[in-house]
Amino acid sequence: MVNLKFYTGEQFPLEMHKVRIVQKLNLIPVTERLRAVQAAGTNTFLLKNEDVYLDMLTDSGVNAMSDRQLAAMMEADDSYAGSQTFSKLEAKCTELFGTNYFIPAHQGRACENILAQVFVTPGSIVPMNYHFTTTKAHIVLNGGTVVETPIEEAYKVTSTHPFKGNMDLEKLEQVVQEHGPDKVAFVRMEAGTNLIGGQPFSLENLTQVRALCDRYGLVLVLDASLLADNLYFIKTREESCRDLSIREITRRISDLCDILYFSGRKLGCARGGGLMTNNDKFYNQIREFIPLYEGFLTYGGMSVREMEAITVGLEETMDLDMISHGPQFIAYMAEELQKRGVPVVTPPGGLGCHIDAMQFLDHIPQSQYPAGALAAALYIASGVRGMERGTMSEQREPDGTEPLADMELLRLALPRRVFTLSQVKYTVDRLTWLYENRRLIGGLKFVEEPETLRFFFGRLAPLSDWPEQLAAKFKADLGDY
Ligand code: F0G
Repeated sequence: MVNLKFYTGEQFPLEMHKVRIVQKLNLIPVTERLRAVQAAGTNTFLLKNEDVYLDMLTDSGVNAMSDRQLAAMMEADDSYAGSQTFSKLEAKCTELFGTNYFIPAHQGRACENILAQVFVTPGSIVPMNYHFTTTKAHIVLNGGTVVETPIEEAYKVTSTHPFKGNMDLEKLEQVVQEHGPDKVAFVRMEAGTNLIGGQPFSLENLTQVRALCDRYGLVLVLDASLLADNLYFIKTREESCRDLSIREITRRISDLCDILYFSGRKLGCARGGGLMTNNDKFYNQIREFIPLYEGFLTYGGMSVREMEAITVGLEETMDLDMISHGPQFIAYMAEELQKRGVPVVTPPGGLGCHIDAMQFLDHIPQSQYPAGALAAALYIASGVRGMERGTMSEQREPDGTEPLADMELLRLALPRRVFTLSQVKYTVDRLTWLYENRRLIGGLKFVEEPETLRFFFGRLAPLSDWPEQLAAKFKADLGDY
């Protein structure tokens, strides 16, 4: 990563790659955007991509691939069993993570399903720095309970804490003592903690979590899906790691964990996933489930082409230039929004820029899904598709009550190496307009609510004709686009 100074004094992030394949985008007029969001049940998940200008829904499976990844895909060895492609990926995992075993799975949640089936029993608990939607769903499905023990700072939207994804060691110890170590299925640390705004943990904190797990004989599992961002933050924010290479930090993290798993849709910039361990017993337990749910042990539901791409993608993740792009663009976006008064999560994390819908729409109660409303409103105002990360993304309790999320965020994901700085500037401009017109935005209610992971295909309705009012104001202020 080059540390540049700009002559004019203006600071902005610089791409350390060039674009060699492009996809044409459409920006449809505001009246059509209004119609599209209405047809999608006011849920940005249900929009058609042809109606979307910038797809900031997620960084999952939509990161730009490199020329080397594409070239490697041509070399894939297509065989059901014993594919050379698998051996390459396994060897890369051993090289980077020091693990003997790589167990392939079709994506991150498949790893979570298997981990939950192996370790979670009715009545067991899984302490973690913070839950992820699919992780929690699998644990609950197997009769377990998620117990979150992050540091207090994790819940603060505005903060200067460099590692809001850290575990609170005292809280964790209390939980372990209260329930008893036997009830703890495993302790889970999530790199680049997704739902609180892509916030990292420090290497020091992970080391302390390991020590606690050792004291109580607990299994430590790392969700490494967002490891790339976490590596960048350890390198740039943790004083004692300044002189370590990304490769060294990766190895230190991995050496502290019993099992690592990842979504290859994020880490590795392709599509797939897998688990890694050095433990023979865990390997054998996990392995049992692969032919049942995923496929043979040398592909696990992945296309061999994607496996080749992940192998190269993991290697590319060791390049600081590569992993800097996302966090630096996100920091730029967050700073520009802050200058214009738009409330964002600070410090800026990885994955995407997170807008605080609780402040942005302080006139909308959480029970009316302010972050979901903001996602729909931003689409109307810009054609940009973000994702609700708030109460809509929470699951109802078994008794039907609706837990209110700790945070109401609109996540604008910046998939790695995909968007240009002018596209980020456009989004900032539209969000600024929206912020100035925020009182026009109203709440939502579910009209179709699936029981599990309702945010994916639930349909909602606005509580008034606010989408029409918003679109009309946009047209009056800015025209069709
Ligand atoms: N863990 C984390 C931290 C994730 O962010 C995700 C996916 C998963 C596990 C599940 O992986 O999608 O490959 O099955 N996050 C996506 C997102 C869906 O948009 O944040 P997967």
